[in-house]
Amino acid sequence: MTGLTVTGWGTALPDRIVTNAELAESLDTSDDWILERTGIRERRVGGTTSELAIAAGRAALERAGRRGDDIDLVLLATTTGDRIVPATAPTVQEALGIPGGAVDLNAACSGFVYGLVLANGMLATGARRILLIGAETLSSITDWTDRSNAILFGDGAGALVLEATDDAGDLLGWDLGSDGSATHILKCEHGGTIEMDGKEVFRRAVRVMVDSSKASLEHAGLTIDDVDLVIPHQANLRIIHSACQKLGIDHERASIVIDRYGNTSSASIPLALVDAIETGRVTTGDTLLLTGFGAGMTWGSAVLRWSR
Ligand code: UT7
Repeated sequence: MTGLTVTGWGTALPDRIVTNAELAESLDTSDDWILERTGIRERRVGGTTSELAIAAGRAALERAGRRGDDIDLVLLATTTGDRIVPATAPTVQEALGIPGGAVDLNAACSGFVYGLVLANGMLATGARRILLIGAETLSSITDWTDRSNAILFGDGAGALVLEATDDAGDLLGWDLGSDGSATHILKCEHGGTIEMDGKEVFRRAVRVMVDSSKASLEHAGLTIDDVDLVIPHQANLRIIHSACQKLGIDHERASIVIDRYGNTSSASIPLALVDAIETGRVTTGDTLLLTGFGAGMTWGSAVLRWSR
């Protein structure tokens, strides 16, 4: 049997901080409204997706004690590639000196979980090491004059080095799903900006996070009582609290970075995971539940044992 284990992790964030108060200078909104309705205090804005992905990837390689030429594949989850064609992953591969393959994947905010599951499959069929990155510059597709959208999104990246194991590995269970009939509730057309029916996304988000989390736990042969820490997609603090409540786990056991970074789509789960690792919230043997949802609609959950 071959599975995956995480050997390195890293993040990258633009220096520029945009506070709620700064947004309120040009939009009919307030710090209080944004904080109360979303949990967001500030977000980071700037750079390109490849710059952020390269920086996060480099940090993850360093943490793993690996060099670019140790890596067989760059998997880059993003909805905001530098251009339509070619993909952004080859730019990352070139910058980091990686000889292997490179491909972008777009499952919107579920992209990182999709990438983790796909990486597990690649490792099972012969790849030895994969650099999985979630990177976004959502600021480039945000309508900064629309208060219902502009308050939510931010830029950032997070990366993991995943290595093959000789046993079943640390991905204990997973669930991926998609419902293309809901494309219209959250989308961005070529050359456009994000359009969203926020209330409908909210309603469906809680349901799919809960159902998908349960499915992945069942796949792992575990229950919510076995979970030490939830690493949720960071779209709205109220979505996270509601999903935790319905799953039967205290929301204090969820990693939260939305207050500092807003919604960074594919980057939000790795940013929340790395934050938990670096603040000592993850210890050896812990069971982590990664769960996300996004445009498509897509959703994905993964149960990951932390064996570092
Ligand atoms: O990665 C997935 C991406 N997206 C999501 O997960 C988004 C999910 N949805 C949400 O997070 C929430 O629906 C929002 C944060 C987008 C909106 O919060 P809400 O509690 O659903 O507010 P609402 O749309 O029902 O609006 C309530 C009121 C409205 O005013 P009226 O009609 O009651 O007078 C809005 O016009 O709040 C108003 N409003 C605002 N007021 C101040 C909407 N946006 C703002 C704002 N500042 N930024």
